[in-house]
Amino acid sequence: MRRLLIIGIGAGDPEQVTVQAIKALNRADVFFVVDKGDDKQDLMLLRQEICERYVENRSYRMVMIPEPERDRSAPAYRQAVERWREERAELWAGVIESELADGGCGALLVWGDPALYDSTLAIVGQIVSRLGPQELDYEVIPGISSVQALAARHRVSLTQVGRPLHVTTGRRLAAEGFPAHCDDVVVMLDAHCSFTGVDPATEIYWGAYLGTKDEILLSGTVGDLGGRIEAARGEARGRKGWVMDTYLLRRPAP
Ligand SMILES: C[S@@+](CC[C@H](N)C(=O)[O-])C[C@H]1O[C@@H](n2cnc3c(N)ncnc32)[C@H](O)[C@@H]1O
Repeated sequence: MRRLLIIGIGAGDPEQVTVQAIKALNRADVFFVVDKGDDKQDLMLLRQEICERYVENRSYRMVMIPEPERDRSAPAYRQAVERWREERAELWAGVIESELADGGCGALLVWGDPALYDSTLAIVGQIVSRLGPQELDYEVIPGISSVQALAARHRVSLTQVGRPLHVTTGRRLAAEGFPAHCDDVVVMLDAHCSFTGVDPATEIYWGAYLGTKDEILLSGTVGDLGGRIEAARGEARGRKGWVMDTYLLRRPAP
């Protein structure tokens, strides 16, 4: 039996790694790191910094898992993502089988929280059904997500009294607009500043590179700030080669 720990490491600030995560980091013999390519080098360095800072057992190993190319232009988004997950599951299963000894404990460090827009749990689920639960067991350790970091940095609650919160992607916000059933929407994975399509009176609480030295925070109405956010995002992306941003949209009071 091999064991895998899926550890949420927070969204950028090493101080937001939980005590439970630190204990889990110290149980692992091997860290599996998914290689996302050069433009995400900073994220890789942060994972290494977390291991160096918190892991007391210096005999651990880091094993890279290559990332298969993803077809981002495919019109059938869901099918393309499922195909990509299957390819990843096959690759990961091979690496885990060859690099993790029987009885060994491996760890996968997941950005933010593993339960939010992350495919690690789905992929590990596929690997377990392939290898059999008697071969691989796994545990999940929650992390502080970028959504929680955003709310804390803006000192704002995500929910209003007794009201729901909707979490969605930039792609869906652009396609479907502000959902009719709620007043508060958190948007992630937005490569195209989809907030520009909502009512300009909507409030926006925007954050990029949350928890890191490059953090940018802006809040106001979309009408007042939309252009400034687009410019700040474009400039930061050009300078660093990548950007991760999250925002809360709040419907204006009637
Ligand atoms: C693949 S999802 C992973 C989300 C992650 N599991 C979490 O709990 O935050 C990546 C998206 O998370 C958001 N994100 C992650 N880290 C962030 C950060 N440090 N600052 C702002 N947004 C971040 C962005 O919307 C980005 O497009």
